Amino acid sequence: MSFRTPKGTDDIMPPESRLWRSVLRAWDILAERYGYAYVATPIFESTDLFARGMGETTEVVEKQMYNFLDKGGRRLTLRPEITAGVVRAYIQAGRWGEFKGAYSGPCFRYERPQEGRRRQFWQLGVEYLGTPDVEADLEVIELGYRYLLDCGLGDVVVHVNSIGDPPDRLAYHSVLSAWLEDRADQLSRDARRRIRTNPLRVLDSKADREVVAGAPVPVDHLGEAAAAHHDDLIEGLQERGIAYDEDPRLVRGLDYYNRTVFEYIPPSYRAAQNAVGGGGRYDGLSRLLGGPDVPGVGLALGLDRILSAVGSRPPARALDVFLVVADQDRRSLAQAFARRLRSAGVRCDLVAGRRSVKAQFRAANRRDAAAAVVIGSEWDAGLVTVKDLSSGDERTMPAGEVVPWVKGVPVGGGR
Ligand code: HAM
Repeated sequence: MSFRTPKGTDDIMPPESRLWRSVLRAWDILAERYGYAYVATPIFESTDLFARGMGETTEVVEKQMYNFLDKGGRRLTLRPEITAGVVRAYIQAGRWGEFKGAYSGPCFRYERPQEGRRRQFWQLGVEYLGTPDVEADLEVIELGYRYLLDCGLGDVVVHVNSIGDPPDRLAYHSVLSAWLEDRADQLSRDARRRIRTNPLRVLDSKADREVVAGAPVPVDHLGEAAAAHHDDLIEGLQERGIAYDEDPRLVRGLDYYNRTVFEYIPPSYRAAQNAVGGGGRYDGLSRLLGGPDVPGVGLALGLDRILSAVGSRPPARALDVFLVVADQDRRSLAQAFARRLRSAGVRCDLVAGRRSVKAQFRAANRRDAAAAVVIGSEWDAGLVTVKDLSSGDERTMPAGEVVPWVKGVPVGGGR
């Protein structure tokens, strides 16, 4: 019998895992620079949290959740996203002031698997709770945009829209329902069902794209406050030099949003209408989940989609240095030297046990080290031989110079 990954899931193995890790690390660092503190919430939560938070009639809740009963009969769900969990954690912690949280972790949706659409996928995100100010929307959009530029997606465009406040949405819903009702015979079965329950969801139904192309749009039905918020948002995007497109059809697939909604779309993804990330304002979510009346805005990016949009970049070497012990009596010296290098921040390894020099060089190449450092008889004079494994160049240097050499600091003639 042989075991494989479940359908729609992936192993993250070297060498790809190196790029994967560095992209994750870059997210933590950038989010921290913008003042977001790391948060981690459970991978499963009560089913009702997601049903209520994301909306009972959304595609994700109706069709894509991994629901299960635990041995105690509790209804639980593998998280399909992280926002509801973070807002739940915020409410539960009871510190109801301003809160800026950043996260990354796996999410689960039962989708038809394809590239960029997985059943287990990673999200990187932030949530900014406690302020209704448009500057918070702008900060969140800017953070995601900056990050995608840093990842190499230089031509990403932020699609933005406003879906208004709840009263605006009610008014808009009746206009939209009437419009859809008139065309019910051209709509899919799911869309017809949603005319009454959740007409906004018909707008992002892929099956009904052609029919709804001429439907009335939310921005034409905004109240005064939401319209002013949206104007300020557009002005702020221009001020910040963020490439954006006003997209009146963008409504997002989740019910908790009001006012600002946005998605990051690299041009290479435009045809499939796939976003590498998205988010928006959700001023009613905390109250909906039983918490205080606290506004919020946030975003989440899909790690799998970022990596496939970036394409394959030659990943950095796995190791800086592989130690080759030419003289087996010096094994414990070599191990002490490895400890010294590692303490100085050098990624360094050596084989376990006695092996021939040839076998150790083979291991150095297999392990994708940038250089081999040979420890032999010249060690007695404080020297090692360093071989650049890309160019094959060899030189002898004092053992004390290996660290600056690895780090690219010029030592006596440089590298
Ligand atoms: P979302 O648009 O459903 O929003 O997901 C955010 C991102 O997660 C997507 O743009 C995509 O990159 C990635 N993603 C979603 N589903 C999959 C999948 N099956 N396979 C691979 N990647 C996927 C949210 O989840 C909201 N919680 C975002 C948010 C945060 N809104 C406010 N705060």
